[in-house]
Amino acid sequence: MSDRPLLEVRELCASYDRSQVLFGVTLTAPPRGAVAVLGRNGAGKTTLLKTLIGEMRVGSGAIVFAGRDATRLPTERRVRLGVGYVPQEQGVFGRLSVRENLEVGASASGDRRAIDWVLSMFPKLGQRLRQPAATLSGGERKMLAIGRALLSRPKLLLLDEPTEGVWIGVIEEIAERLRALVKEMSIVLVEQHLELAVSVADYAYVLDRGRVALEGNSRSVRDDPRLLQYLAP
Ligand SMILES: Nc1ncnc2c1ncn2[C@@H]1O[C@H](COP(=O)(O)OP(=O)(O)OP(=O)(O)O)[C@@H](O)[C@H]1O
Ligand SMILES: [Mg+2]
Repeated sequence: MSDRPLLEVRELCASYDRSQVLFGVTLTAPPRGAVAVLGRNGAGKTTLLKTLIGEMRVGSGAIVFAGRDATRLPTERRVRLGVGYVPQEQGVFGRLSVRENLEVGASASGDRRAIDWVLSMFPKLGQRLRQPAATLSGGERKMLAIGRALLSRPKLLLLDEPTEGVWIGVIEEIAERLRALVKEMSIVLVEQHLELAVSVADYAYVLDRGRVALEGNSRSVRDDPRLLQYLAP
């Protein structure tokens, strides 16, 4: 297996209109395993994922995916190359049932067997196939959003706060699935729940006002006394 990263992000800068949010972010993700992105509210975590999927224009810097320059590729080209994205909010069609949400995703990728794979991973969804997605619990909705992103069988999954708004009893269930997924794919995991992030990701980056302030093995980052100042509001 090659040691070459699947994702290489170099000196990435991005702005909303005139307000710059990312200031030279450099990070890599291996073909298997997760890297965590930590940081307080407003640090730029969601903005970073939006630049990686192509929803946000890159000001300068480079995004290299599987050895190919993806910096300016439109979102659907990135998806076809193998990038999946689970946004912090939404990610499902509320008025459609669980089954319809999965069918829409599978018809886009043309891989209907992927639905069975997703349901085997999240059996709870199988019990709710006819239920409108808007009426799912927070945890079930996150599972559906993750499931939808998996339908295109991504090589790299960008996950923005998969446990936000999820009841504590279900968080561990999601964490367990993520620990299984990283055996076969790469994940960039934005997560507020520090212990969960450490249990899924081997490596962590801490963003502070749009810059990587701290990085390293996820356990050493968790135990670093400087972490507190970067996570404090
Ligand atoms: N559409 C937008 N227009 C202008 N500024 C924005 C927009 N979206 C986000 N920002 C600003 O960019 C900065 C980074 O926001 P971002 O959503 O990336 O942070 P985050 O780390 O994901 O925060 P959270 O933990 O709250 O999700 C914030 O100052 C935010 O106010
Ligand atoms: Mg965010």
